[in-house]
Amino acid sequence: MIRGEPLKVPVYRRIAPAAAALLIASCNPAQVTQSSAPPAQASDVRQTPAGGHPIGDKVSDDEYGEFLSRPEELASVPINDIGKSIRLSAGALALGRVVYQKNCAVCHGEDLKGRKEAHAPDLTDDEWRFSGDDLASGGVNKLPSDVEWTVRYGVRSGNPNARGVEADMLAFDPQYRNQHDLEDYGRVKTVTSAEIDDLAEYVLQLTGQQSNPAKAARGKALFLDNAKGNCFDCHEEDATGNPALGSTNLTRKDLFLYGSDKASIVESMTKGRRGVMPAFGDKLKPEELKAVSVYVFSQAAPEAPAAPNP
Ligand code: HEC
Ligand code: HEC
Repeated sequence: MIRGEPLKVPVYRRIAPAAAALLIASCNPAQVTQSSAPPAQASDVRQTPAGGHPIGDKVSDDEYGEFLSRPEELASVPINDIGKSIRLSAGALALGRVVYQKNCAVCHGEDLKGRKEAHAPDLTDDEWRFSGDDLASGGVNKLPSDVEWTVRYGVRSGNPNARGVEADMLAFDPQYRNQHDLEDYGRVKTVTSAEIDDLAEYVLQLTGQQSNPAKAARGKALFLDNAKGNCFDCHEEDATGNPALGSTNLTRKDLFLYGSDKASIVESMTKGRRGVMPAFGDKLKPEELKAVSVYVFSQAAPEAPAAPNP
C-alpha cells in the first residue's frame, strides 16, 4: 500500500465498540445519529478506544473473558441490556455472526440482504415488517428484543406466539383460500378479475411504476372500499402497511417479498401469500438466540458495526 493512502476499510469496520454498543441499545434515530463515530484514520483501526476493545476481524482465544464475554455469560442477561456493555456486546456480535451464518443465511443471505427465492426480507434496512414492543414509544423505537421475538417464535410458523398469525394476505379468488381464510371469509368473492386488474394498476401506481391512470383510479376506490378490496384494513389507507400484521408497505417496491411487477401483484391478490419463517426457540441455545438477535439488530442500524470473526 502506498504510504499516506487511506486504508480501504469499510466504514462499519471502523466503528468503535462503544459506538456499537449505543447502536445496539436502541434504534432510536436520534441516538443513532449521536453515536455514529467520526471516520477513523487508518492508524486508528487497531487502537484500543477508551474503555473498549477494538472489534477486529479475528478474535483470538485469549481475548475471550477479559475483552469479550464468553457465550454462556449472555444467557442470564436481559437482551436489551447486552448493548449497555462493551464486553457483552462484543461477545454477542462475535457469537451472533456465527449463529446467523449457520441458521439464517440460507434464507436471508450471507450479506443479510434477503434472498428473493426464499421471500425473506432484507435485514439490513431499518424497515421492520413487524412492530416493536417498546411501551414508552408505543412500538416506534425498535429494540433487540423485537428481533428476538420474531426469531424465537417465527412468522406463521405454527407456534402459537408466532408473528403474522392474526391476518395474512388472503386469496381474493376463493378457490385458493386456506382453512384459516375460509373460516374468516368463506367462499365470498368480493372482487372480479377485472377489479383485481384495476387494483394491480393502483399498486403499480403506488410504487411509482408505469400504470393505467383510469384503472388505477378505479383500483384506488376498491382499495378503500370495505365491501370490495378492503385492502386498507390491513395495509392502511396510505398503503404503507401495518407493522402489527406484517403487511407489506405497498408504496416501496424494494420491500415486496413476492415481486412488484404486475403479474406478481395479480398473483399475490389472486392466490394470497403466507410467508413462513421457522421458530428458533427450541433450536438455539438461549445465548445463541440472544446473540443472533443482537447481531441482526445491530446490522439494521444505518451504520452497522462489524462483528469479529471468532
Ligand atoms: C387480512 C389482511 C389483508 C388484506 C385485507 C389485504 N392484505 Fe395484502 N397482505 C397482507 C399481509 C399480511 C401481507 C404480507 C404477506 C406475507 O408476508 O407473506 C400482504 C401482502 C400483499 C402483497 C404482496 C406484497 C409482497 O410482499 O410482495 C400485495 C401485492 C398485497 N398484499 C396487496 C393487497 C391488496 C391490493 C389488497 C386488497 C385487494 C390486500 N392486499 C388486502 C394482508 C392483507
Ligand atoms: C426458511 C427460511 C428462513 C430462515 C432459515 C430464517 N428466516 Fe427470517 N424470515 C423468513 C421469511 C420468509 C420472513 C418474512 C415472513 C413474512 O413476513 O412473510 C422472515 C422474517 C424475519 C424477520 C422479520 C423482519 C422484519 O422486517 O420484521 C427477522 C428479524 C428474521 N426473519 C430473522 C431471522 C434470523 C435471525 C434467522 C436465523 C436465526 C432467520 N430469520 C432464519 C425466512 C427465514
